[in-house]
Amino acid sequence: MRSHAGFTMGKILTLSVIKADVGGFVGHSDVHPALLEKAKSCLSASSILTDFHVSHVGDDINLIMTHYGGRNNGEIHHLAWDTFIACTEVAKSLKLYGAGQDLLSDSFSGNMRGMGPGVAEMEFEERPSEPVIVFMADKTEPGAWNLPVYKMFADPFNTIGLVIDPKAHCGFNFEVRDLIENKKVTFAAPEELYDLLVFIGAPGRYCVKAVFHKQTGEIAAVSSTQRLNLMAGRYVGKDDPVLIVRCQSGLPAVGEVLEPFANPHLVSGWMRGSHTGPLMPVPVAQATPARFDGPPRVVALGFQMCNGKLVGPQDFFADPSFDNARRKALDVADYMRTLGPFEPHRLHLEEMEYTTLPDVMHRLKDRFVKLS
Ligand code: 13P
Ligand code: 13P
Ligand code: MG
Ligand code: MG
Repeated sequence: MRSHAGFTMGKILTLSVIKADVGGFVGHSDVHPALLEKAKSCLSASSILTDFHVSHVGDDINLIMTHYGGRNNGEIHHLAWDTFIACTEVAKSLKLYGAGQDLLSDSFSGNMRGMGPGVAEMEFEERPSEPVIVFMADKTEPGAWNLPVYKMFADPFNTIGLVIDPKAHCGFNFEVRDLIENKKVTFAAPEELYDLLVFIGAPGRYCVKAVFHKQTGEIAAVSSTQRLNLMAGRYVGKDDPVLIVRCQSGLPAVGEVLEPFANPHLVSGWMRGSHTGPLMPVPVAQATPARFDGPPRVVALGFQMCNGKLVGPQDFFADPSFDNARRKALDVADYMRTLGPFEPHRLHLEEMEYTTLPDVMHRLKDRFVKLS
């Protein structure tokens, strides 16, 4: 690894979560332990991180890192890139499936934007107590966070703090990205809830990128919004997004942030990135999508930040209070599977644009006869 001078510890901490699928074990189900070990040794060898935790969900490696270098820091992104390259070498040596899958470029060029890996980063001054939750999903897309983030920060039936916590009562601002036209727009909740929902109810195109406390302007949540297929122009795999949420003291409580996942919602990305299925909350040990390469998974790792150190993780969905959610997800999965190759289990045509479907259409185009 390259050697670094390190960043000076300041008031503003950066929490960076960078993830990539660089080879599955077996198929698209899991990350081989040798890759996780390699990632840990790469990050340990660096002096620019204050702390890190390496984890995975399904076949995606998640690098959870703290430092004082700010967002979009070239050194941090380069370190993550080098780590994924080193892991890819291990994946190739074991002939793992899709080695290097998410690395769209041969070389690093400044920062991670457009390179394939997913990135969620936030900068904040650590509060006297700073609970954060890192959500990591597999077999789905960034818009999968829209519904749960809406519930956390805008739905009083989910977050009673919006009603009874004087510090949360003002509401939150939602920054929404249009991933097709590459634009952003901010909506204030609760005043503009109906406008907000027009857009984030279409998660294939509009994604909640960040949420801010309305009075203090403090960052409360941030997600990765990379869409691999749109970047690559072909089917690469799903984007398998991450989400960071700060909790408590004017922000939703930990339990309010976890609550939306008790009702597994339908997301895009199951089997070949081309099917809809329930997002099943699981602990890391159960984050091994198997049935029909799924159903899609979400893991929640809680940390107490302490002077930049990641105290944790607490593997929240290991708790039995999510057993019923898993059962419900499996029942929904049974039902969705009965639909086989039909929509809405199979994604609608527009979402299939980057699969083999265009080839089939092209091959058969002369067979279509115009009706007068
Ligand atoms: P805080 O307002 O201190 O975050 O406490 C709320 C709480 O813990 C509810 O579960
Ligand atoms: P990943 O996006 O997790 O690699 O899954 C791809 C796939 O095709 C699963 O069926
Ligand atoms: Mg994969
Ligand atoms: Mg994956």
